[in-house]
Amino acid sequence: MLSRKMESALNGQINNEMYSAYLYMAMSSHANDRGLKGFAAWFMVQYHEEMFHAMKLYEYVQRQGNSVKLEAIKQPPNTWKSPMEMFQQTLKHEQFITSCFNELTELAIKEKDHATQIFLQWYVTEQVEEEENDNEIIGMLKVAGDNTHALMMIDRDIGSRGTTVPTDYSRGIEAALKAAQ
Ligand code: FEO
Repeated sequence: MLSRKMESALNGQINNEMYSAYLYMAMSSHANDRGLKGFAAWFMVQYHEEMFHAMKLYEYVQRQGNSVKLEAIKQPPNTWKSPMEMFQQTLKHEQFITSCFNELTELAIKEKDHATQIFLQWYVTEQVEEEENDNEIIGMLKVAGDNTHALMMIDRDIGSRGTTVPTDYSRGIEAALKAAQ
């Protein structure tokens, strides 16, 4: 059983992850409108990753015998000046999410909630990868500069990213992970 404070904080993080999914879906749509199909695919994969992050939290709260309470998801922006601006915003957002998990971990330590502390470690590690991915693409975009040919090569390259997370959670996370293998 989670404390009320921990339950509320984890519910808040479900909302943050749902917003992340919404933000990347908006970026995918914008990239598609601009003819950048590879970027659109990359952001749609990221959308699935975020839904997985939200569902892991959702299931954890329920398994602890607590309640999931969904709140309104704020509206994401709908246009960006360039792929560079999209990835700079993505990195900034992921840095914010990293700080959220650091705070959640601090709360779990303060509450002597060892189970939640262990559960959150997965996210702390995941955030290193998330920021690394964004920094890598920002680096590629810096090298490309204003070169349209180079931008199209990046589009083709990042568009090959596949979804590695499950997308059907109707029987729970474990079953979804097994089915996705
Ligand atoms: Fe769920 Fe991109 O952090």
